[in-house]
Amino acid sequence: MRKKVILSGMRPTGKLHLGHLVGALENWVALQGEYQNYHLIADYHALTTNPDTSEIYQNSLDMLIDWLSAGLDPTISPMFRQSQIKEHTELFLIFSMLITTSRLERNPTLKEQVRDLAIETIAYGHLGYPVLQAADILLYKGEVVPVGEDQLPHIEITREIARRFNAQYCPDNPVFPEPEGKLTKFARLPGLDGKRMSKSVGNTILLSDSPHEIEQKLRSALTDPQKIRKGDPGRPDICLVFAYHSKFNSTEVDEIRLGCESGALGCVECKKRCALKIIETLTPHREKRLYYEAHLDEVKAILIDGEARARAVAQQTMHQVRDVMKMG
Ligand code: TRP
Repeated sequence: MRKKVILSGMRPTGKLHLGHLVGALENWVALQGEYQNYHLIADYHALTTNPDTSEIYQNSLDMLIDWLSAGLDPTISPMFRQSQIKEHTELFLIFSMLITTSRLERNPTLKEQVRDLAIETIAYGHLGYPVLQAADILLYKGEVVPVGEDQLPHIEITREIARRFNAQYCPDNPVFPEPEGKLTKFARLPGLDGKRMSKSVGNTILLSDSPHEIEQKLRSALTDPQKIRKGDPGRPDICLVFAYHSKFNSTEVDEIRLGCESGALGCVECKKRCALKIIETLTPHREKRLYYEAHLDEVKAILIDGEARARAVAQQTMHQVRDVMKMG
């Protein structure tokens, strides 16, 4: 039986953090096997907010190492850079005719970025970000797109473009599926300051952090400001450390809630126990990472191989696209 296709990707921001793992990567690994996965390094998308490419290759390798260390298997799931497969730019151009600028201006993820990064005027390519993402997904006929919740508006735009294309060029025999987004249970893990975990804010725990770094970072994490010392009752539901316990320490989480609420458990002790669980979770990851860092040629070969396999699929789709458009 044909497996459904998963397509997902990330911009190459370098070493990944817990938010990436919990928001998306974990899902990619869990669904691998049941689906046919493709994973893309969105290096063109990275240019929308930063034109500097001096570190883009190193950042791509660093991200790929984290993917591999998390359990993505390159023999079954091609991993590739978007920029190495020119079909992405071709389909992007065709799709850009099938969506209005006003629709793209309404994209809430773009509005959020403009606000957060204090962008004054938006580049043409930045406005078109979701159109390129639609090309990424549909070139591989992606049906399921496991992403963080900030990406759902882009999946919606992808569905609209797929519908428009099919209606315009191949109403009786649609070329493209209408993909669905798939969220993880913990779609948003807070950062160490309680805000969204993000590299640019500096409130992250990296998957590659050492046990010592993880302990130190947790020690400085924000907790309920009303719980000043042990004995004070705390409010776990507003505490990011408790959010981490819920994710990484399911066996003790009930007891931690009771201890926090009654005051019997102090924040220092609670953070120590949390750090231990995160360290435990990340240890296998860190060990695999060391292996790949020492075998960089292997990592580069995985990319080249993934790109060749992805390219073959992308070429096939573009062939169909040109065919139905009578531009073959
Ligand atoms: N926009 C996604 C992000 O910032 C990255 C991305 C690019 C992507 N192309 C994609 C995600 C295709 C899913 C599918 O995280």
